Amino acid sequence: MEKFYRDTFTPIEMSDKLSEERREEVVTCTLSRKNMIQEGDQVLIWFEDDVTYLVQVMPNRKLGIHQGRPVELADLIGRPYGDWLDVENGRALLLEPTVEDHMMKARRESGIIYPKDAAVILMKLGIRSGSRVIEIGTGSGALTLALVQQVIPDGKVFTYDRREDFLSLAEANLNKASLVSYVELKKRIGNEPFGETEVDAVVSDVPEPWHEVEAIKASLKNGGRVAALNPTYNQIEKASDAFQKAGFVKIEAMEILVRGILPRLGKTRPEQRMIGHTEFLLFAVKPAS
Ligand SMILES: C[S@@+](CC[C@H](N)C(=O)[O-])C[C@H]1O[C@@H](n2cnc3c(N)ncnc32)[C@H](O)[C@@H]1O
Repeated sequence: MEKFYRDTFTPIEMSDKLSEERREEVVTCTLSRKNMIQEGDQVLIWFEDDVTYLVQVMPNRKLGIHQGRPVELADLIGRPYGDWLDVENGRALLLEPTVEDHMMKARRESGIIYPKDAAVILMKLGIRSGSRVIEIGTGSGALTLALVQQVIPDGKVFTYDRREDFLSLAEANLNKASLVSYVELKKRIGNEPFGETEVDAVVSDVPEPWHEVEAIKASLKNGGRVAALNPTYNQIEKASDAFQKAGFVKIEAMEILVRGILPRLGKTRPEQRMIGHTEFLLFAVKPAS
């Protein structure tokens, strides 16, 4: 029934020019903070007008920028993170990308879960290093990035999607963030049950979560937590009813609104524009029967 999707996938985002040894090092380095930029690293280049570029540093590669001549990426190798880089018409800061940067810069072909929602999902589901988590609806893999970052190095995320093109896209995005080793990407046919049991948490980002309740119940450990993410009231109402009828308890629903503030001496005020709506978050717990 199940297919471990990675068997058939060739990573495309991490440069194939990296030696196997260096590739291994790049993956291992995901677990520790680094001081110096090395070949193969993903670096976030931040300009003072808040324009950013996320690039993989490789020799013989140039990055076209909006402030003058292209940057030779080889010149970044050996420089400390946090350093300023002089460019033709200004300067830029060299930063180690966060998982938020990877989520926001991920190539997208679906709607994604935003960092503001992902942060609360991780907290409410109690996901931590070592957790085993099922994700239903991989999409572009933005939420997968946040889940994986949290469970490493001993946990695992099992992410399911019906569409192979989304699994490939998500794998490329995870590979770029050096997080792919901690994920199993799985093709799902219909609403079939999941291959894992006794998982710590399940998160669903599919349009009809009420069809998934029995499969979720079969895979989740007693006391395990589930989140269903949907954009409309109708969907969370129907999902809430289905979880309740299946015996789930501690049902909570919420929406996370983040309003940016412009902090400027003597005239600090909220930003005029904000993201008014993304997803509603529905949470529930599976009790022992
Ligand atoms: C909105 S996208 C998920 C986006 C993802 N959370 C992210 O942050 O990038 C929904 C995905 O669910 C998949 N999907 C829909 N129904 C499904 C089901 N029953 N089982 C597995 N995947 C499903 C779709 O193919 C689509 O890729």
